Amino acid sequence: MYTRTLLRPLLARPIVPVQRLVPLTVRYGSTFPQPTQAADSFRTETPVEEHIINDHRSFEELYDRFKANEGNTEEQSAIINELVREVAQHSIAEETVVYPALENTNAFGKGESIADHLRQEHYQVKKLLYKLDSMEVTDPGFNSTLSQVMDTLKEHAEEEESKELPELQKLLSKEERIGLSRSFLRRKAISPTRPHPGAPDKPPALEVAAGLPVAPIDKLRDQARNFAERRVPQ
Ligand SMILES: [Fe+2]
Ligand SMILES: [Fe+2]
Repeated sequence: MYTRTLLRPLLARPIVPVQRLVPLTVRYGSTFPQPTQAADSFRTETPVEEHIINDHRSFEELYDRFKANEGNTEEQSAIINELVREVAQHSIAEETVVYPALENTNAFGKGESIADHLRQEHYQVKKLLYKLDSMEVTDPGFNSTLSQVMDTLKEHAEEEESKELPELQKLLSKEERIGLSRSFLRRKAISPTRPHPGAPDKPPALEVAAGLPVAPIDKLRDQARNFAERRVPQ
């Protein structure tokens, strides 16, 4: 009882019965990594491009669900919280695991400049996502900011899926790409759950140094948030 009293202000949980706040598709006050998110990273046999493509499909599925839930503010907020978390963690895992693989294999004979270009696009997404994360779904301008986020993400994801990922498939064996998957999932599980556009985008070591220490703070703040379920496998 003493511990619970001490923790309550830290976790900032509203003092209301949890069940009243939990619609069917919403997890209340989830912490990350989820049990399966961490465990999957050790046993996946799926090459990295499939995990990346699944994440991209999940972003789109969440956006479709957001639009289908017009008028349901609580559900829409939970969907946006999940979208922000997924995009933030996906971006850092790509920057620190997948883009270095493009550099190390010198993809298209210019691996470093391709990785720079992709990191620059992530920076644009992070800035927009940061703005979105500071807004309420009912704020004027929320929908147009969300639509900007989704347009920027879509263009970026289409490039990755049509150019960089097929190139990695050519340059790396399936075993190597499965190894990348394990690093990618592990990195996602421990990455910050909110966008931090001030964090350096390059080199990866600096991104890790600047990005990862804030993850526990993000996860503590997440205790006060609802998250919609993810419907696309990791
Ligand atoms: Fe990306
Ligand atoms: Fe991506």
